[in-house]
Amino acid sequence: MPFPPEFLWGAASSAYQVEGAVTEGGRGVSVWDTFCAEPGRIRDGQSGAVAADHYHRYREDVALLRDLGVGAYRFSVAWPRVVPDGTVHSEGLDFYDRLVDELCAAGIAPAATLFHWDTPQYLEDNGGWLTRDTAHRFADYASVVGQRLGDRVRLWMPLNEPVVVTMFGYALGNHAPGRNLGLAALPTVHHQLLGHGLAVGALRAAGCSNIGVANHHGAVWAASESEADTMAARSYATLVNWLFADPLLLGRYPAPELAAAMPGPVVEDLKVISTPLDWYGINYYQPTLVGAPSKNGSDPAVAGLLPPDLPFEPRRLSGYPTTDFGWPVIPEGLRETVAMFADRYGDATPPLYITESGCSYHDPDPVDGRVPDPARIAYHEAHLRALEQAITGGADVRGYFVWAATDNFEWAAGYRERFGLVHIDYATQKRTPKDSYYWYRDFIRDTIH
Ligand code: BGC
Repeated sequence: MPFPPEFLWGAASSAYQVEGAVTEGGRGVSVWDTFCAEPGRIRDGQSGAVAADHYHRYREDVALLRDLGVGAYRFSVAWPRVVPDGTVHSEGLDFYDRLVDELCAAGIAPAATLFHWDTPQYLEDNGGWLTRDTAHRFADYASVVGQRLGDRVRLWMPLNEPVVVTMFGYALGNHAPGRNLGLAALPTVHHQLLGHGLAVGALRAAGCSNIGVANHHGAVWAASESEADTMAARSYATLVNWLFADPLLLGRYPAPELAAAMPGPVVEDLKVISTPLDWYGINYYQPTLVGAPSKNGSDPAVAGLLPPDLPFEPRRLSGYPTTDFGWPVIPEGLRETVAMFADRYGDATPPLYITESGCSYHDPDPVDGRVPDPARIAYHEAHLRALEQAITGGADVRGYFVWAATDNFEWAAGYRERFGLVHIDYATQKRTPKDSYYWYRDFIRDTIH
């Protein structure tokens, strides 16, 4: 039985992508509000100001989740709602209190992320994740949320995808806060990890348990068997996968040069960073093909963004079907990604969750209350088959969260990309479950019983 009865079936979202209501309830400004207001940053000049209006419609959304039959809902708490200007704002916490109560009443376990990229702007003005103080402010915020919600939240994730914040937010600049620092972004790795470790301690001190992390991971494939390409793939994997996972799981950076590039008392910090976790969350989308730098081999999607002189070059993965977002569909990459954890960490591998898996297709508008999305169904079916294989092969994977519960604001790509099981008509905010929603509902029901 690959999926045991206690396997957690879930769906996910994040605050800035769904809530809207950015000026309500005393919420402060976040880096994403600022970034979206800058011309040319977001496709069609869009923003998360209204998004899926989840702040007002959370009851309807929880009812949809209840009918879907998920065991857990992964959402994020917006830091700028809880600490809008440096002091705790209890009205911001009240919203999550209501959401968590609503989930519990529906029999759904709340799974809370504390940072899904929406740094309060006043902290960014002070240096954001480039500054050590931000890690301490994050732990203070974690403590407050833990004290308020700890009696009901079942799974905690202080951070979501610190690698994306460093890479897109600080090194390349196509996400908030839009900094173009290249390798000078490395301190943001250390400060996010330190913030994570301090937050784990703060949550535990507040009585919370079952604490993990959600990070972006994918197998890295070398463009050829040549030594140059193999070395390039290894460097890329070090930066993207192991730079974050090694400190968390082994208490060290994956290379001495990287440890040397980090600020502060690194050795002492690593003890905090590697506070044992109860589980580890993988957000999987696709593997990456990587080769040695060349003049014209680079993937055009990222070529223009990358700083020069990197020892690797991401290449376009051809020969696979793609989603409407242009991302290759490679389910076996999920099996391989799970397996690479056991390969690297052996007995030190904590139980794993797939904290995100999903695809964007430009679904048709609803007709007679239906949104046919066969490609999304095929996507999840194939990824779950790959996950079954991983579990059969011995991996301890305990849950799968579909990204996303509903359509939402896909960061720099705006609203065109639709990852949801539920369609949102942004003009009316009408929710329409897609065919994939009914497919997932039946899949969960058949698997549980
Ligand atoms: C993020 C989500 C995002 C999804 C699809 C993940 O990197 O955690 O916020 O919407 O991928 O791009």
